[in-house]
Amino acid sequence: MANLTLIREFLLLGFGSIHGLQFLLFGTFLGIYVMTLLGNILILTVTASDRSLQTPMYFFLSNFSFLEIWYTTSIAPKMLKTLLSGPEAISFAGCVTQFYFFGSMAVVECFLLAAMSYDRYLAICSPLRYPSLMNFHTCICLAGVSWLGGFLTPVVTVTMTFQLQFCASNEIDHFFCDLAPVLKLACSDPEEVEKTTFLMASFVTMVPFLLTVASYINIVSAVLRVPSATGKRRAFSTCSSHLIVVTLYYGTLGTVYAIPTATQAAALNKVFSLLYTVITPMVNPIVYSLRNKDVKNAVQRLLSEWKHGTKT
Ligand SMILES: *[C@@H]1O[C@H](CO)[C@@H](O)[C@H](O)[C@H]1NC(C)=O
Repeated sequence: MANLTLIREFLLLGFGSIHGLQFLLFGTFLGIYVMTLLGNILILTVTASDRSLQTPMYFFLSNFSFLEIWYTTSIAPKMLKTLLSGPEAISFAGCVTQFYFFGSMAVVECFLLAAMSYDRYLAICSPLRYPSLMNFHTCICLAGVSWLGGFLTPVVTVTMTFQLQFCASNEIDHFFCDLAPVLKLACSDPEEVEKTTFLMASFVTMVPFLLTVASYINIVSAVLRVPSATGKRRAFSTCSSHLIVVTLYYGTLGTVYAIPTATQAAALNKVFSLLYTVITPMVNPIVYSLRNKDVKNAVQRLLSEWKHGTKT
């Protein structure tokens, strides 16, 4: 008890020793990160500049792209650094900050996905009342609540984690400071933190998840009542991109957090974590710009404007 040395710094081990592969992985993930930034910036630019995209649906899409930029930026730079130069030191406060930001963004993402599906639900199931129900004020409120809820939720966990003592090992076997691998290193009992976090995390993911599922059940049953096949396709086309993004996000998140960490190999956990921290933020703009006709047209208009701009 007397010579209990407290830990002030952690070491992020990243992907461990993968000799010879680190440059390949570094290049790949750098490419993915750059594409994520460019893709989401393109969505932000196009939704801000194109008249035909000034609707609630694209307001939420641009807000979502804005979120994805921060979401992946809370993870990617440190991860790239561990790939390039091996285990990376991170202060205790830095580690908790990273967890806080990542946790906040993940919650905002769940809330925004629910808001987006609610928007599609209103548009498809009550088209006549849609313009008055989903007005500018409602949009701002839904997005505002998402961001506020996201930033408030992890505060409890972070406060509790700050009160734990860390004294044994300081090596985090992961590429970012996720809560579970950090709690593994605590010498004081982390059970309270784990229980509270589990309860809060279940609440803030299950509620938006169930709202999203309920919206889609209503959407699908409304679409099935549309008589013609082309009518069905047209009704569903506005939400199919969103449905892909929702499925991908909850699918990967669920895989990591639903399987108990004890039975999960650290390596497998890292691979799945990569999917939802690095891969899904890149997929979102690709899905929207390839599948959504309005976005596709707006991107083409923007590109041709740029071409003309550089010529003159
Ligand atoms: C996203 O929504 C929030 C809350 O309404 C707002 O403050 C922010 O400016 C929005 N960002 C973008 C890029 O639309």
